[in-house]
Amino acid sequence: MRVDDFRLMLGKREFVPIMIGGMGVDISTSPLALEAARLGGIGHLSDAMIQAVCDRHFDTHFVKDKVKKYKSSANNRDKTAVQFDLGELAEAVRMHVEKTMEAKKGSGLVFVNCMEKLTMNAPRETLAVRLKSALDAGIDGITLAAGLHLGSFSLIEDHPRFRDAFLGIIVSSLRALQLFIRKTARSRRLPDYIVIEGPLAGGHLGFGMDWAKYDLASIVAEIGGWLAAEKLDIPLIPAGGIFTGSDAVSFLRNGAGAVQVATRFTVVRECGLPEEVKQKYFRADETDIEVNQISPTGYPMRMLSGSPAIGDGIRPNCEAYGYILSGSGQCSYVDSYYREADLCPDARRLSIKDKTCLCTHMRNYNLWTCGHNTYRLKDTTRRLADGTYQILTAEHVFRDYQFSTDGEIALPAPQ
Ligand SMILES: Cc1cc2nc3c(=O)[nH]c(=O)nc-3n(C[C@H](O)[C@H](O)[C@H](O)COP(=O)(O)O)c2cc1C
Repeated sequence: MRVDDFRLMLGKREFVPIMIGGMGVDISTSPLALEAARLGGIGHLSDAMIQAVCDRHFDTHFVKDKVKKYKSSANNRDKTAVQFDLGELAEAVRMHVEKTMEAKKGSGLVFVNCMEKLTMNAPRETLAVRLKSALDAGIDGITLAAGLHLGSFSLIEDHPRFRDAFLGIIVSSLRALQLFIRKTARSRRLPDYIVIEGPLAGGHLGFGMDWAKYDLASIVAEIGGWLAAEKLDIPLIPAGGIFTGSDAVSFLRNGAGAVQVATRFTVVRECGLPEEVKQKYFRADETDIEVNQISPTGYPMRMLSGSPAIGDGIRPNCEAYGYILSGSGQCSYVDSYYREADLCPDARRLSIKDKTCLCTHMRNYNLWTCGHNTYRLKDTTRRLADGTYQILTAEHVFRDYQFSTDGEIALPAPQ
């Protein structure tokens, strides 16, 4: 059997059961999401650091303007005043989503990955704007990520598209799903799909540092059992470590509606990572991949141990970015930075070991977040004469998932 023997049903519509997961910041680009949709599956934009992403692609200067506005607080430990302009935030989301939806072809869908942990110094207000603007701009669906999202449905329940856009949530445990469903019952709307992210995924993990004790198939079975007992029919979409079409088939045969995959797409042309970073992903060995706690979000995060972000001591850049600031203007990197600055007042350059300036380093592709199976990417392509690896296309990887059998991985045609 192969993935193409299955279809994901969302409402009355059918899709190739392959969803490319959201990868912030601008790793899952608009062209990558559009390829998934063109091929009949589902792709994701991410709205992480959306203003910086817009500045990169369009003729906007959201970041420069914000820096100018808050220049005076650059040396200030108190970041309470550094707020996002909600009108500008709405405009940035709208631009990114609208441009993508205008370019969409094919029978698939484009969703946006929306992380609750991007608290942006005003969690409720900014999240409401992000969700509503994506709906206004015509996104096909929203995947609620990195957080329990207990209040997210109520933020948009009055939106005219609340009942017709596809809305899903990422969970890593039955408990998180139960809380979400209980809490959102008031909105009289269930999620249209549930992504179950296991411990081998890329990005932030929904587990503690004991992540290795957990296993995706067991969590999927537990959640599937509970939904059946509750007579709830919602497609389950396992994610994390699904590396071949056959891995995907084993979940689909057990009743999953689709799979969400990401790592294999980090080395395709359409992925936003710079070329040299894609080569680092190819070259990585298993021992080069670590899960650590340097993310100021508080979630463990998996990354390449050679990431320049690790141990770097750049001055916090909240005036430009500030996406992790809590509702009271705090970020644990700001705390760590000033703790070290107080200890070493004469140091020309600090090294901060326990936390990283997530915004700056994600924006500059200096934090090489990755899935557990990144060390296997070298087996998915050809080595070129100069020692580098051949970059793939999203279409090649998508079709390999869709049609491969027997655990095989098709190599690309020689360049
Ligand atoms: C480089 C990278 C960045 C990611 N960033 C995000 C993110 O911003 N938000 C999110 O919800 N998931 C993120 N993920 C998780 C993926 O969307 C996906 O669920 C998971 O990685 C699938 O497992 P796989 O990578 O083993 O295929 C990221 C994954 C990778 C590899």
